[in-house]
Amino acid sequence: MPTVTAKPLPAAFARRFPRPAASRATPDSPSQPQPLDLPTISFFGRTLAEYAQFFALDLAALKKRDVLDVASGPSSFTAEAHARGIDAVAVDPLYTSTPDALRARVEGDYAHMFAQMRARPRLFKFKSFPSIDAAETDRRLAAQRFLADFEAQRFYGRYVGASLPRLPFFDGTFDLVLCAHLLFTYAGRFDFDWHLAACKELVRVSAGEVRLHPIVATDGRTYPGLPRLRRELKAAGIASELVRVDYEFFVGADSMLVLKKAVP
Ligand SMILES: C[S@@+](CC[C@H](N)C(=O)[O-])C[C@H]1O[C@@H](n2cnc3c(N)ncnc32)[C@H](O)[C@@H]1O
Repeated sequence: MPTVTAKPLPAAFARRFPRPAASRATPDSPSQPQPLDLPTISFFGRTLAEYAQFFALDLAALKKRDVLDVASGPSSFTAEAHARGIDAVAVDPLYTSTPDALRARVEGDYAHMFAQMRARPRLFKFKSFPSIDAAETDRRLAAQRFLADFEAQRFYGRYVGASLPRLPFFDGTFDLVLCAHLLFTYAGRFDFDWHLAACKELVRVSAGEVRLHPIVATDGRTYPGLPRLRRELKAAGIASELVRVDYEFFVGADSMLVLKKAVP
Protein backbone atom coordinates (compact mmCIF):
# COMPACT_ATOMS: atom_id res chain seq x y z
CA MET A 1 0.00 0.00 0.00
CA PRO A 2 1.43 3.44 -0.83
CA THR A 3 1.90 5.80 2.12
CA VAL A 4 -0.50 8.73 2.11
CA THR A 5 0.68 11.86 3.91
CA ALA A 6 -2.14 14.12 4.99
CA LYS A 7 -1.67 17.86 4.50
CA PRO A 8 -1.72 19.68 7.88
CA LEU A 9 -5.02 21.38 8.64
CA PRO A 10 -4.86 25.18 8.60
CA ALA A 11 -4.95 26.72 12.10
CA ALA A 12 -8.19 28.51 11.19
CA PHE A 13 -9.88 25.10 10.79
CA ALA A 14 -9.88 24.20 14.49
CA ARG A 15 -10.95 27.71 15.43
CA ARG A 16 -14.02 27.48 13.20
CA PHE A 17 -15.40 24.01 13.86
CA PRO A 18 -16.91 23.19 17.24
CA ARG A 19 -17.62 19.69 15.87
CA PRO A 20 -16.82 17.75 12.66
CA ALA A 21 -18.43 19.58 9.79
CA ALA A 22 -18.91 17.55 6.65
CA SER A 23 -19.11 14.03 8.13
CA ARG A 24 -22.15 14.40 8.99
CA ALA A 25 -40.31 25.45 -21.19
CA THR A 26 -43.23 26.66 -21.84
CA PRO A 27 -42.70 30.14 -23.44
CA ASP A 28 -43.55 33.33 -21.61
CA SER A 29 -47.15 34.59 -21.84
CA PRO A 30 -47.52 37.92 -23.68
CA SER A 31 -49.46 39.57 -20.80
CA GLN A 32 -47.82 38.34 -17.59
CA PRO A 33 -44.23 36.98 -17.32
CA GLN A 34 -44.26 33.49 -15.80
CA PRO A 35 -41.88 32.69 -12.93
CA LEU A 36 -38.86 30.51 -13.60
CA ASP A 37 -39.97 26.88 -13.27
CA LEU A 38 -37.31 25.33 -11.02
CA PRO A 39 -38.33 21.90 -9.69
CA THR A 40 -35.46 21.83 -7.17
CA ILE A 41 -33.19 24.42 -5.55
CA SER A 42 -30.70 24.80 -8.38
CA PHE A 43 -27.02 24.07 -7.91
CA PHE A 44 -26.15 27.19 -9.84
CA GLY A 45 -23.44 29.77 -9.09
CA ARG A 46 -21.93 33.12 -9.84
CA THR A 47 -18.43 34.67 -9.82
CA LEU A 48 -16.79 36.90 -7.22
CA ALA A 49 -17.23 39.86 -9.62
CA GLU A 50 -21.00 39.31 -9.66
CA TYR A 51 -21.09 38.90 -5.85
CA ALA A 52 -19.10 42.13 -5.51
CA GLN A 53 -21.85 43.94 -7.45
CA PHE A 54 -24.96 42.53 -5.78
CA PHE A 55 -23.44 42.62 -2.28
CA ALA A 56 -21.69 46.00 -2.83
CA LEU A 57 -18.42 44.48 -1.55
CA ASP A 58 -15.22 46.44 -0.93
CA LEU A 59 -12.89 43.57 -1.85
CA ALA A 60 -9.68 45.36 -0.77
CA ALA A 61 -11.11 45.89 2.72
CA LEU A 62 -11.91 42.16 3.02
CA LYS A 63 -8.25 41.07 2.69
CA LYS A 64 -7.31 38.79 5.64
CA ARG A 65 -10.92 38.91 6.89
CA ASP A 66 -13.03 35.82 7.67
CA VAL A 67 -15.95 35.72 5.25
CA LEU A 68 -18.66 33.03 5.16
CA ASP A 69 -20.70 32.33 2.02
CA VAL A 70 -23.79 30.27 2.89
CA ALA A 71 -25.72 28.38 0.17
CA SER A 72 -22.75 28.95 -2.08
CA GLY A 73 -23.48 26.16 -4.58
CA PRO A 74 -21.01 26.13 -7.50
CA SER A 75 -20.19 29.83 -7.04
CA SER A 76 -16.49 30.66 -7.48
CA PHE A 77 -16.69 33.39 -4.83
CA THR A 78 -14.72 31.39 -2.24
CA ALA A 79 -12.03 30.16 -4.67
CA GLU A 80 -11.51 33.65 -6.08
CA ALA A 81 -11.61 35.26 -2.63
CA HIS A 82 -8.71 33.04 -1.47
CA ALA A 83 -6.71 34.07 -4.54
CA ARG A 84 -7.13 37.67 -3.27
CA GLY A 85 -6.10 36.91 0.31
CA ILE A 86 -9.63 36.81 1.76
CA ASP A 87 -10.15 33.98 4.27
CA ALA A 88 -13.43 32.67 2.85
CA VAL A 89 -15.42 29.55 3.76
CA ALA A 90 -18.33 28.18 1.73
CA VAL A 91 -21.32 26.21 3.07
CA ASP A 92 -23.80 24.14 1.09
CA PRO A 93 -25.69 20.90 1.89
CA LEU A 94 -24.37 19.38 -1.36
CA TYR A 95 -20.72 19.71 -0.30
CA THR A 96 -20.97 16.25 1.25
CA SER A 97 -21.09 14.94 -2.37
CA THR A 98 -18.15 13.86 -4.52
CA PRO A 99 -16.66 16.18 -7.16
CA ASP A 100 -18.03 13.89 -9.90
CA ALA A 101 -21.54 14.05 -8.44
CA LEU A 102 -21.34 17.85 -8.24
CA ARG A 103 -20.06 18.06 -11.83
CA ALA A 104 -23.06 16.00 -12.98
CA ARG A 105 -25.40 18.19 -10.92
CA VAL A 106 -23.91 21.35 -12.49
CA GLU A 107 -24.47 19.94 -15.98
CA GLY A 108 -28.13 19.13 -15.36
CA ASP A 109 -29.04 22.24 -13.38
CA TYR A 110 -27.24 24.67 -15.72
CA ALA A 111 -28.95 23.18 -18.80
CA HIS A 112 -32.36 23.48 -17.13
CA MET A 113 -31.73 27.00 -15.78
CA PHE A 114 -30.52 28.46 -19.09
CA ALA A 115 -33.46 26.88 -20.98
CA GLN A 116 -35.80 28.54 -18.46
CA MET A 117 -34.01 31.88 -18.70
CA ARG A 118 -34.18 31.88 -22.52
CA ALA A 119 -37.91 31.06 -22.35
CA ARG A 120 -38.55 34.00 -19.97
CA PRO A 121 -36.56 36.99 -21.35
CA ARG A 122 -38.99 39.48 -19.79
CA LEU A 123 -37.77 38.41 -16.33
CA PHE A 124 -34.38 40.01 -17.11
CA LYS A 125 -33.03 43.55 -17.25
CA PHE A 126 -29.88 43.66 -19.29
CA LYS A 127 -27.97 45.98 -16.97
CA SER A 128 -25.27 43.83 -15.39
CA PHE A 129 -25.02 41.44 -18.38
CA PRO A 130 -25.75 42.48 -21.99
CA SER A 131 -27.41 39.12 -22.81
CA ILE A 132 -28.32 35.72 -21.43
CA ASP A 133 -25.41 34.29 -23.50
CA ALA A 134 -22.99 36.58 -21.62
CA ALA A 135 -24.42 35.50 -18.26
CA GLU A 136 -24.13 31.85 -19.29
CA THR A 137 -20.45 32.19 -20.23
CA ASP A 138 -19.67 33.92 -16.92
CA ARG A 139 -21.61 31.52 -14.72
CA ARG A 140 -20.19 28.44 -16.44
CA LEU A 141 -16.72 29.83 -15.72
CA ALA A 142 -17.76 30.20 -12.08
CA ALA A 143 -18.78 26.53 -11.93
CA GLN A 144 -15.53 25.35 -13.58
CA ARG A 145 -13.45 27.36 -11.12
CA PHE A 146 -15.54 26.11 -8.19
CA LEU A 147 -15.23 22.44 -9.27
CA ALA A 148 -11.43 22.65 -9.52
CA ASP A 149 -11.13 24.33 -6.11
CA PHE A 150 -13.64 21.99 -4.47
CA GLU A 151 -11.67 18.97 -5.67
CA ALA A 152 -8.43 20.41 -4.22
CA GLN A 153 -9.77 21.92 -0.98
CA ARG A 154 -12.79 19.92 0.16
CA PHE A 155 -10.93 18.08 2.94
CA TYR A 156 -9.31 21.23 4.34
CA GLY A 157 -12.23 23.16 5.79
CA ARG A 158 -12.90 25.53 2.90
CA TYR A 159 -16.10 23.76 1.74
CA VAL A 160 -18.47 22.70 4.53
CA GLY A 161 -21.51 20.46 4.08
CA ALA A 162 -24.26 21.98 6.25
CA SER A 163 -27.80 23.40 5.94
CA LEU A 164 -29.61 26.40 7.29
CA PRO A 165 -31.07 26.91 9.79
CA ARG A 166 -28.10 25.30 11.60
CA LEU A 167 -24.46 26.13 10.94
CA PRO A 168 -21.49 24.31 12.54
CA PHE A 169 -19.57 27.40 13.69
CA PHE A 170 -19.06 29.23 16.97
CA ASP A 171 -20.87 32.52 17.62
CA GLY A 172 -19.29 35.54 15.93
CA THR A 173 -16.74 33.55 13.89
CA PHE A 174 -16.95 35.57 10.68
CA ASP A 175 -16.41 39.27 9.97
CA LEU A 176 -18.96 39.11 7.14
CA VAL A 177 -21.63 36.54 6.28
CA LEU A 178 -23.18 36.36 2.79
CA CYS A 179 -26.15 34.37 1.53
CA ALA A 180 -27.28 34.75 -2.09
CA HIS A 181 -30.16 33.22 -4.02
CA LEU A 182 -31.67 31.03 -1.35
CA LEU A 183 -33.89 32.60 1.32
CA PHE A 184 -36.11 34.80 -0.80
CA THR A 185 -35.44 33.33 -4.25
CA TYR A 186 -36.88 30.01 -3.08
CA ALA A 187 -39.23 31.60 -0.53
CA GLY A 188 -42.11 29.20 -1.30
CA ARG A 189 -40.07 26.15 -0.28
CA PHE A 190 -39.52 27.30 3.30
CA ASP A 191 -42.10 28.58 5.80
CA PHE A 192 -41.87 31.83 7.75
CA ASP A 193 -40.41 30.16 10.86
CA TRP A 194 -37.60 28.68 8.78
CA HIS A 195 -36.78 32.11 7.33
CA LEU A 196 -36.69 33.66 10.81
CA ALA A 197 -34.52 30.85 12.21
CA ALA A 198 -32.16 31.03 9.19
CA CYS A 199 -31.68 34.80 9.61
CA LYS A 200 -30.99 34.43 13.34
CA GLU A 201 -28.45 31.67 12.66
CA LEU A 202 -26.62 33.75 10.03
CA VAL A 203 -26.43 36.64 12.53
CA ARG A 204 -25.24 34.29 15.31
CA VAL A 205 -22.11 33.23 13.40
CA SER A 206 -21.36 36.81 12.31
CA ALA A 207 -19.28 39.34 14.25
CA GLY A 208 -20.39 42.08 11.86
CA GLU A 209 -22.92 42.12 9.05
CA VAL A 210 -25.03 39.56 7.25
CA ARG A 211 -25.95 40.42 3.66
CA LEU A 212 -28.81 38.66 1.85
CA HIS A 213 -29.55 39.04 -1.87
CA PRO A 214 -31.95 39.24 -3.63
CA ILE A 215 -35.17 39.99 -1.79
CA VAL A 216 -37.34 38.80 -4.71
CA ALA A 217 -38.56 35.30 -5.66
CA THR A 218 -38.46 33.59 -9.08
CA ASP A 219 -41.43 35.71 -10.26
CA GLY A 220 -39.54 38.97 -9.56
CA ARG A 221 -41.80 39.90 -6.63
CA THR A 222 -40.52 40.93 -3.19
CA TYR A 223 -40.79 38.25 -0.49
CA PRO A 224 -44.24 38.97 1.03
CA GLY A 225 -43.14 38.03 4.57
CA LEU A 226 -40.40 40.69 4.59
CA PRO A 227 -42.14 43.32 6.81
CA ARG A 228 -43.04 40.66 9.42
CA LEU A 229 -39.55 39.13 9.22
CA ARG A 230 -37.95 42.52 9.88
CA ARG A 231 -40.34 43.19 12.79
CA GLU A 232 -39.60 39.83 14.41
CA LEU A 233 -35.86 40.23 13.91
CA LYS A 234 -36.04 43.66 15.54
CA ALA A 235 -37.86 42.14 18.51
CA ALA A 236 -34.99 39.61 18.74
CA GLY A 237 -32.37 42.39 18.83
CA ILE A 238 -31.39 42.26 15.14
CA ALA A 239 -31.42 45.45 13.08
CA SER A 240 -32.20 45.23 9.36
CA GLU A 241 -31.76 47.63 6.47
CA LEU A 242 -32.77 47.41 2.81
CA VAL A 243 -29.91 48.71 0.65
CA ARG A 244 -30.10 49.43 -3.10
CA VAL A 245 -27.10 48.09 -5.04
CA ASP A 246 -25.71 49.03 -8.45
CA TYR A 247 -26.74 45.73 -10.03
CA GLU A 248 -29.73 44.18 -11.77
CA PHE A 249 -30.05 41.20 -14.08
CA PHE A 250 -33.01 39.21 -12.78
CA VAL A 251 -35.87 41.72 -12.59
CA GLY A 252 -36.19 43.32 -9.14
CA ALA A 253 -32.85 41.89 -7.92
CA ASP A 254 -31.38 45.34 -7.23
CA SER A 255 -31.27 45.32 -3.42
CA MET A 256 -29.84 43.47 -0.45
CA LEU A 257 -31.08 43.03 3.09
CA VAL A 258 -28.39 43.82 5.68
CA LEU A 259 -28.71 42.36 9.19
CA LYS A 260 -26.66 43.06 12.30
CA LYS A 261 -27.01 42.74 16.04
CA ALA A 262 -28.67 45.91 17.29
CA VAL A 263 -26.47 48.00 19.61
CA PRO A 264 -28.15 47.84 23.05
C1 LIG B 1 -29.06 29.00 -6.53
S1 LIG B 1 -27.78 28.33 -5.52
C2 LIG B 1 -26.98 29.84 -5.04
C3 LIG B 1 -25.49 29.78 -5.22
C4 LIG B 1 -24.73 31.06 -4.89
N1 LIG B 1 -25.06 31.56 -3.58
C5 LIG B 1 -24.98 32.15 -5.91
O1 LIG B 1 -25.71 33.10 -5.62
O2 LIG B 1 -24.43 32.05 -7.01
C6 LIG B 1 -28.67 27.87 -4.05
C7 LIG B 1 -27.91 26.87 -3.18
O3 LIG B 1 -28.59 26.71 -1.93
C8 LIG B 1 -28.28 25.41 -1.45
N2 LIG B 1 -29.23 25.07 -0.38
C9 LIG B 1 -30.41 24.42 -0.45
N3 LIG B 1 -30.97 24.30 0.78
C10 LIG B 1 -30.11 24.89 1.66
C11 LIG B 1 -30.12 25.09 3.07
N4 LIG B 1 -31.15 24.67 3.85
N5 LIG B 1 -29.08 25.73 3.64
C12 LIG B 1 -28.04 26.18 2.88
N6 LIG B 1 -27.99 26.02 1.53
C13 LIG B 1 -29.01 25.39 0.93
C14 LIG B 1 -28.41 24.56 -2.70
O4 LIG B 1 -27.74 23.31 -2.58
C15 LIG B 1 -27.82 25.47 -3.78
O5 LIG B 1 -26.47 25.17 -4.02
